Parts: sequence; C-alpha cells; structure tokens
Amino acid sequence: MDNSAVTPAAKRLADYKPYGFEIKSVDLVFDLDPQRTRVTSRLKIKKTNLSQNKLMLDGEGLALLSFKVNGQVYEAFRVVENGLQVVFPFENADVEIVTECLPSENKSLEGLYYAASTFCTQCEAEGFRKITYFPDRPDVLTTYTVKVIADQEKYPYLLCNGNKTGQGELANGRHWATWHDPFKKPCYLFALVAGNFDQVTDQYTTISGRDVALELYVDKGNGSRGQHALDSLKKSMQWDEQTFGLEYDLDVYMVVAVDFFNMGAMENKGLNVFNSKFVLANAESATDEDYFNIESIIAHEYFHNWTGNRVTCRDWFQLSLKEGLTVFRDQQFSSDMSSHISNRIKQVRVMREHQFAEDAGPMSHPIRPDEVIEMNNFYTVTVYDKGAEVIRMIHTLLGQDGFRKGMDCYFERHDGQAVTCDDFVQAMQDASGVDLSQFRRWYSQSGTPVVSVSKHYDPANNTLTISLKQTHPPTAGQKEKQNLHIPVAWELFDKRTDEVKSGVFSLLNDADDLVIENVNAEQNIALFTDFSAPVKVQQAIDNSESLEIMLYAKDSFARWDAAQSVYSDLIWKRADTGGDVAGDIAAIAQQLISAGISDLGLLSELLSLPGFEYLSEQREKVDVLTLYSAREAVRKSLADALNTFAVDYIEGFENKPYQYETSDAEKRRLKNLLLQYHTLASGQTDLAQQQFSLANNMTDSLGALHALRTPGTLGCFESLMLDFEQKWHDDVLVLDKWFALHAGTDRDDILPTLDLLTSHQRFTFDNPNRVRSVVGTFAFYNVPQFHKEDGSGYQYVADNIIRLNSVNPQVASRIITPLLKWKKLTGPQAENMRLQLTRIADTSGLSKDVYEKVTKSLGSD
Ligand code: TRP
Ligand code: ZN
Repeated sequence: MDNSAVTPAAKRLADYKPYGFEIKSVDLVFDLDPQRTRVTSRLKIKKTNLSQNKLMLDGEGLALLSFKVNGQVYEAFRVVENGLQVVFPFENADVEIVTECLPSENKSLEGLYYAASTFCTQCEAEGFRKITYFPDRPDVLTTYTVKVIADQEKYPYLLCNGNKTGQGELANGRHWATWHDPFKKPCYLFALVAGNFDQVTDQYTTISGRDVALELYVDKGNGSRGQHALDSLKKSMQWDEQTFGLEYDLDVYMVVAVDFFNMGAMENKGLNVFNSKFVLANAESATDEDYFNIESIIAHEYFHNWTGNRVTCRDWFQLSLKEGLTVFRDQQFSSDMSSHISNRIKQVRVMREHQFAEDAGPMSHPIRPDEVIEMNNFYTVTVYDKGAEVIRMIHTLLGQDGFRKGMDCYFERHDGQAVTCDDFVQAMQDASGVDLSQFRRWYSQSGTPVVSVSKHYDPANNTLTISLKQTHPPTAGQKEKQNLHIPVAWELFDKRTDEVKSGVFSLLNDADDLVIENVNAEQNIALFTDFSAPVKVQQAIDNSESLEIMLYAKDSFARWDAAQSVYSDLIWKRADTGGDVAGDIAAIAQQLISAGISDLGLLSELLSLPGFEYLSEQREKVDVLTLYSAREAVRKSLADALNTFAVDYIEGFENKPYQYETSDAEKRRLKNLLLQYHTLASGQTDLAQQQFSLANNMTDSLGALHALRTPGTLGCFESLMLDFEQKWHDDVLVLDKWFALHAGTDRDDILPTLDLLTSHQRFTFDNPNRVRSVVGTFAFYNVPQFHKEDGSGYQYVADNIIRLNSVNPQVASRIITPLLKWKKLTGPQAENMRLQLTRIADTSGLSKDVYEKVTKSLGSD
C-alpha cells in the first residue's frame, strides 16, 4: 500500500442516522463551460433535529467561490475532506453556495462531465457531491428548479428533470432554459444534459387519458436508429399499467443516448441517460441480442419511475430495494414480450456463472450489504440479480394476486418516501397474510445455500418422500449462517401422459420432508422447477433419471437443468480422468434431435454446454486450463454429433427480410449455434463464409465470424475480420463487437494483438465501452490466454487496471473482477495472479474502488 494515503474507511448500515435537516427546495443555476462551470445553489433549509447544530454538506473536488446565509456572507464553516461542516444555529435559513467544477477534466464520468461535445451528469450513487455542496444521500428529498445557461450554437438542447418552464436568448451567443420537477427526489436522480442531437419524438396516452410526450435524443445522424427504443418505451408504459396499475406521472419522458457512460443506463426522473449501445438499433448494425437488451433496459429504467423514484431508498445499503425489484419487473416484462423459458434460462445462467462466483469469492455480500467502502462497488450481480431472485421467491410464495396486493400496499404506504428493504417485505406480508419473518434472512445472509436431496418411494403406500436438507457454507466476512425459508417448487410427471401434479414446498429447517401421496412407480419428480430458489442442489441422481427429466418433464427449465447436469458430469469426467465421453455425448445429442422439440429457444439451450464459470463453481479449487480443455473437448464431441443435423438445418434455412421478432430471433439463434458446431466439427469454412457474404443483418454477420473463430479456421476469420473493419470503421458501436471478437480469440500472439487494438484509431481509454470490449473481454472471456501459465495475461490486465485507476476508477474496478479469484486456482496461476494483485495494491493513488476489492482479495479472510 501507499502509506502516505489515508486508508479508506468503511461505512456501516448499523450507523445509519437521519440527516436532521429538511431541504425544502433547491434552486440551481448552471453556467456551463467545458473548462470551468459555475454552479449557484440556493437551499431552503429547515432544522428537524433541534439538538443538532452542525450541518454537513458533501462535496468533492469543488472550488468554493462564496457561501451565504440569509443573503449575508457566512464564514462559520470548515472545509473538511469530503465537504463542508457548517455551524448552523438556525431553525430555518436560506443558504446560497457558489462553486466551480471542471467538466472537461472529469474522466470519471461521474458528476458533471464533458465528453464528445456534450455536457452530461451522472449522480448515482454519490456523484452529486462533485457538482455542488449538498446532502448527497438518498433520504434527503426535495424539489428542484434549475436554470441552464450555455452556448446556443454548440448546445442547442438544454435538458433537465421535469417540465421546461421557460427559455430565452442572451446577448453573447448564449441561451438559457429553466426546468421544474414537481416531484421531490433525492439528488442521485438529478440530471442535466446539454448538447446537439437528433431529436426523435413520439407520444403515449396513459390509461387515464393523459398525453405524454416521448423525446429521444441521439447523436446527429443517428435519428433513424431510435425507433426500437421508442417502441420499447411505449410497450413498457403499457405493461406497467396493465400489470401493476402504475402510470407515468410527468408530461414528458426524455431519453438521451451518450457515447461516454460507465454503465448501461440511468433512471434520472423524466430524463433517462443511456449508454448509446442500449438505444441505437437498426438491422444492419444491431444484433438480436442488442434489440433484446434495448427493450429490457428501456423497460428497466422506465419501471424505476415507481420502484426507485416515487419510492426510493433510505440509504445505499438498501440499493436492492429498487434494483432487485426493478430487475424482477423488467424480467417479467421481457418474459411477457418474448419467451418465458429463454428468459428464465438466461437469468439462471447469470446467477450460476456470475452471482454464485461473486458470492463464493472475496467480494461476497448479502443483497443488503452491511458494510461498504465505495458504493459504486455494490452495483453487483448480487444486489441486482440475486435481489431479483429474492423478489421472485416472494412472488412464488404469495402467488400473482398476493404479490400484486403487496405492491399496492407498498405504494399506498410509501409513495414519496425513502424506505428500507424491511418496509417492502412488511408490505408484502401485511397485504398477503403470508409470514415472511424467516424469509427476511435472505436480505442479510450472503452465500449460496446448498440443498441436498434424497428420495424414498414406498410402493406399498404409494408415497414418495423427498428429504431436503439445507446447509450454508461460510462466506467472506460471514461465518455464521442461519436457516433460510426456501421455496421448493416441484413437479410430478409421467412420461406416458400429459398429467402433472405440482406444488411449492417451504423448506424451513435443517431438514424437512416433502411427502407426496398417490404416486405410482412410473412417475418421476423434478425439483426446483423454474429455478424456484437461488441455491445449489446436491442430488444423488443417476444419469438415466436426469435424461428422463430432460426428455419428459413438463417444466422446460427442469429439462434444461437436467441437461446441464448431465453435461457437467461428462465434462468433469473428462477433466478428472481424460476419459473419452464422445459416445455419451453423441447419445444425448441424438435423443435431443429426435425428441421433436418445437420450441427452438429451448432446443438451442439444450444443445449448449454449461458455461466455464458455472463449472468452476462446482469445485472448491480448479485447474483452469484442464477444465477449459475438457470443456472444449466435450464441445468438439457435441459438434461432431450434431454436424449432419447442423448442415441440414443451415442449408434448409429460409432467409427472410430482417425483423426483430421472437420466433425469427430463435431460428437465427439455433442456426448460428449450429454453424459454430459445424465449423468446429468439419473445419470447413464455406457455410460460414456464405452466411457472412449474404447476411442482411448483424446477428448473422457476427454469427459467421464467431463460428470461424476456432483454431482450425483462424485464417478465414482474419480475412473476414479485415473486411468487417473496413465496412464499419466509422461506427464505434459495431467496432466494439469487432474489438471484442479479437480480444476473445485464443491465439498465442494475443498480447501484441491487444496492443494493436488499443492503438486503433477509434480506441480510447477514456471510453468505457472501448475498454470493456478489449480489456474486459480478454479478462472475462478469453480463459486460455488470460490464465496462461506464465502469468502474462494477468500482467496485461493489471497494467491496464493501474492505468485506468487514475482515469476512471469505476471501470478499473469492474474489470478487476477476474483477477480477484486467485484463491480458487491451482498451479502457478494462483501465485501469478496474487503477484499482480499485490502490484496493484502497491500503486500510489489507488482509488477507493480498486482498494476495496484488492484488499478484500488479498486479505486473510
Ligand atoms: N441505477 C442504474 C440502473 O439500475 C445503474 C447505475 C448505478 C448507474 N450507478 C450508475 C448507471 C452509474 C450509470 C452510472 O439502471
Ligand atoms: Zn436499476
């Protein structure tokens, strides 16, 4: 560690205290200039805790120009590390603060920043303190009136939250606009954007008949790529009215797409800001996956208007209150818009491949963390995706109607408030009458529970007894565990008939028995159908039983899950013994091909192997390269077994004009999966080359490139990649896909290749999308090269983290994730990785973001 720096301190949930003051209103004036922007803030403050005489205002990197109370210059304050400490004997006072900040020097993309000739803000979680001195905490809600002043020609659009109340021109080529947001909000939902855009407009009439103007702002020239986002927005608005009775509340809904953005998107009240990759789409440049992501992220941010904005978080430890719930809502929406099973499998893959790993590693935390050093580090798969699984379990336990009553009660009680996860669960419990007292532990307990299962069938009484046991391995920072309330959905099926019996059993104790009567010997049971709880299941089940479930269960998730476990066993068998499993794989492939599965989304998933990360999670420690090559060997066997079927499917494929529509997308998905298998099996390039040259959409172009990116066909891959780069040289979003394809290639000269990529004319370390597509793809997905025995892959990533640490700590801290898991590795990898982590830890000027993760990983815990 750099000892000159102060060790960053953790904040704790247990230390929460109300602010002690009410901000009755805030009035902001922004005099925008890229070099130096002046912000004047006028606060009407009322003391609510009369015994408190110090007013704390957060601020970071601000130049303070003046401070007044009730119109008089005021000096009874101290400038401290993170803000101002003001002596405040007043019961009510008007405070005026003038500060300056430097938008064009702000590369962290947090606070007010200037990039690509656009002013933009990002305030969640704690970015507002980089704009002005203010109580930067989500439980301080107030109404905002804002005046924005800027050069008229360069920045014709001046946008802010709420409704525009005025605009005008000034003498010196500048102009202004004023905005008022009638809804009280915490400052993390504040937004301001000034720039020059193509504006695409649309309109929505709410269920009660109010007209809402929809306005999309995108880079000049990109207006034609905005329609899908607007269509998605209208679908989201309608879905939330129908599903939850929730209506939009302002007269205008604005969405701005920007190129420089740390995450996916941000739900600022009435003025969402999006990473442009989650807005812009047309057939030529966007894949089916892009279309899907746009629809779901537009929905996610829209749904936040109620779950997050109207009812917000009391403190940041409660982040899952809005994120878990909003992810659950966007998942339900996506299911309704496309296919339930494809969505459910996608969600479960995220849980198993990323969330289980996070929860077993040094950054393990409950969905409501107890302790945080840098809040930006807690926008995690745990808070978001496990949080959504927890909401889903409530939905399962209460049923659709009970859940809706709970939501109604939640809004009835808490509209306009900043509340806790406990408040949410309480509303669910009170409205439904279902006891959720033990269930609440899901919020405070980290780690993935293990449920072990054994079965006993009694033919004399026709009863099936399922014995369930829950255990909870200790996790980083949490050794003691309690029993959880685990909903076990089950299905009893009979392969000869369509009859099925199903239910939800609550596992509450160490061990509980689920007893089902009137079971005949032909029936079979599938457990945790639809992934009813985010747990690992241990079951002494033989292959033939798994195969029965895979082929005959009614629940599609159970079928897929059974296939995953059969594949896993074979991959591990190969890794452990080097044995040949081609015969077993061929038999499974044959059964799946002849099962006549008409749901092509499901078929694609049944023909896909478990991800590398999920396999890693099944063992305490892994020899990464052995596991990787075992998985590759099994993939080759599966490819061989599917080759004839693949060629038939591809050659019989009917090319239609592109349309983003579920059944077309599922056909393309299967075709591109089979194209990969065909290329891998045969080493032949003609079908892929043909697809590449005839493609009328990006899904097929990329599908062809992807298929060719295998060891035997790299020459062809390279030459098509050159063509692709020439065609898309000016489109950065498409280039990102090209960068990622290169960075994920298993080739021995990968490091020089990465250097070529980062010296590409369109590459810049200032842009998170570029960095993620090169450095991120390499670290997360290029398993054989990242984990190379000589440690060169780790060193490359560490070099980049050190570089990014001073440019954009949030991005550095996200990319470091694959470097944290050295304790899981065997062989030279463990020591090589630890060495690079130590190098990072020794860097001077380490950000809180990177510091928190590195020290947790290196720590003794
Ligand atoms: N609240 C945002 C969402 O869920 C995510 C978010 C948090 C974010 N912090 C951010 C987005 C910083 C951009 C930058 O959609
Ligand atoms: Zn969100």
